Amino acid sequence: MRQTYLILGATSGIAKAIARALARHGHDLILAGRSAEEVALSAADLEARFQIRARPLEFDATRADHVLGVLAAAMECNDGDLPEGVVLAYGVMFPQSESEANLECLAQTIEVNFGSAARVLQAFGSAFAQRGSGVIVGISSVAGDRGRGSNYHYGASKAALTVFLDGMRHRLRASGVHVCTVLPGFVATPMTYGIVDPASPLCAQPEQVARDVLKAIDRKRGRVYTIWWWRWIMTVIRHLPEAVFLRTNL
Ligand SMILES: NC(=O)c1ccc[n+]([C@@H]2O[C@H](COP(=O)([O-])OP(=O)(O)OC[C@H]3O[C@@H](n4cnc5c(N)ncnc54)[C@H](OP(=O)(O)O)[C@@H]3O)[C@@H](O)[C@H]2O)c1
Repeated sequence: MRQTYLILGATSGIAKAIARALARHGHDLILAGRSAEEVALSAADLEARFQIRARPLEFDATRADHVLGVLAAAMECNDGDLPEGVVLAYGVMFPQSESEANLECLAQTIEVNFGSAARVLQAFGSAFAQRGSGVIVGISSVAGDRGRGSNYHYGASKAALTVFLDGMRHRLRASGVHVCTVLPGFVATPMTYGIVDPASPLCAQPEQVARDVLKAIDRKRGRVYTIWWWRWIMTVIRHLPEAVFLRTNL
């Protein structure tokens, strides 16, 4: 059935692949991102390629008016109706050393990746629960599974997002709302440019993440590691005894 999905952070590498996959399945889209120009171009492109309706929406997670107004703005883009689903796909990741030296980077990491996300998800969760249906997909990260010295500012923001999504799924389990926590490992996008070799077997392509997300929506899965083997990698990392873990340079 043709439904409307709001994608927050629609200019991200992962979000673009999810948008294409949803459009290929005939769904309408609201593409929300910081650059009004870029989301308008993407919307026009997807409309032309897939014969769907795609609406652009300016959204900056550091702007309180955008964060608090996004539900109303999305409804306005959707003829006054709530969209069927929301995909939260924006985020920032500063190099850990930069974030340690400049606490503004740390504050932005927590606010963009978690503070704004929590307020947006709460608003849609409550509205969907009242309607009795809806899909919430939050792109968190395996970095939130255990604090590592090399990336714990970003990791902490994602750990908070993971717990928020998991808790929301628990609270809304009987309300007809499906909440999915997506936990990617490395993905070849601008965020990991120069950090990981995009050809490495540990690095997924955004299209693979998008396939896993669509499958998760279809099968109403709660938690999804993508690529799937990150589940087992993170199980090992989480269970390493503290004394052993502290001797690693992860
Ligand atoms: N790539 C990975 O290896 C990986 C792994 C695990 C999880 N993730 C998560 O996946 C999600 C998508 O990331 P990506 O890999 O696709 O990276 P990306 O291409 O660098 O995308 C990051 C996105 O976040 C947006 N953004 C940053 N600050 C924002 C703000 N204040 N307001 C609104 N949007 C903002 C960016 O918008 P602009 O285009 O305007 O800059 C961009 O669309 C993120 O949550 C990331 O943490 C990525």
